[in-house]
Amino acid sequence: MIFDTHAHYDDEAFEADRDAIMEEIRKSNIKRVVNVGANLRSSETSIALADKYDFVYAAVGVHPDDANEVNEEGIERLRELSRNEKVVAIGEIGLDYYWNKDNADEQKEAFKRQIDLARELSLPIIVHSREAAKDTFDILSEKKAGDMGGVIHCFSYSPEIAEEAVKMGFYIGIGGVVTFKNSKKLKETAERISMENIVLETDCPYLAPNPFRGKRNYSLYLEYVVRTIASLKGMSEEEVMRETYRNACKMYGLEKE
Ligand code: NI
Repeated sequence: MIFDTHAHYDDEAFEADRDAIMEEIRKSNIKRVVNVGANLRSSETSIALADKYDFVYAAVGVHPDDANEVNEEGIERLRELSRNEKVVAIGEIGLDYYWNKDNADEQKEAFKRQIDLARELSLPIIVHSREAAKDTFDILSEKKAGDMGGVIHCFSYSPEIAEEAVKMGFYIGIGGVVTFKNSKKLKETAERISMENIVLETDCPYLAPNPFRGKRNYSLYLEYVVRTIASLKGMSEEEVMRETYRNACKMYGLEKE
């Protein structure tokens, strides 16, 4: 059984065949999927998907790209949306200085306000952090976000930073990138941190693993991620699936099936 902790099936990349894809997932060994919001609109569509498919859960939140949505009204809307019983996390939230550093202050403010909301709602957070390690971890620590826990999604920093994140109470989200030839750092991270702290994610439609790199990603390709992690850690694929499934259920506060 596999738990895809981070997907975007509301993305337009799935517009033409979404229902067929969801049916394929239902029949596969992918048992649970969390569809993650990136702004107010996709938080709503994530919930719509969770309402429609029993194996889909939702996260609501605003990605740093849309930080300007995180005003008083935006927070109130997220609060309302979180009342849906299938909402399991606040995300994805965080800092992204790769795309835009000019609005760093606005990003930080949006990140902090959504961490406060997660605390109020007792929900874990899904953290997006790109080229912003220092500010991200300063804020997580200042806000004691480890109390709520969650995941550093699509982890892209050093193994040392991964260890720090784990110490704070976060899981490390690993997806297709770990299968890439040039992903030395992430392979090292996967080797170094304990299996207890790893969760699987696609971030689909993005970041398909080898041999599908560059193509549209979806949850069934996690099989290739499982294979890579198993070989890095000298474990069986079964063990990797079982442990990451258990971690994901624990992280999102879901009963293990
Ligand atoms: Ni994402």
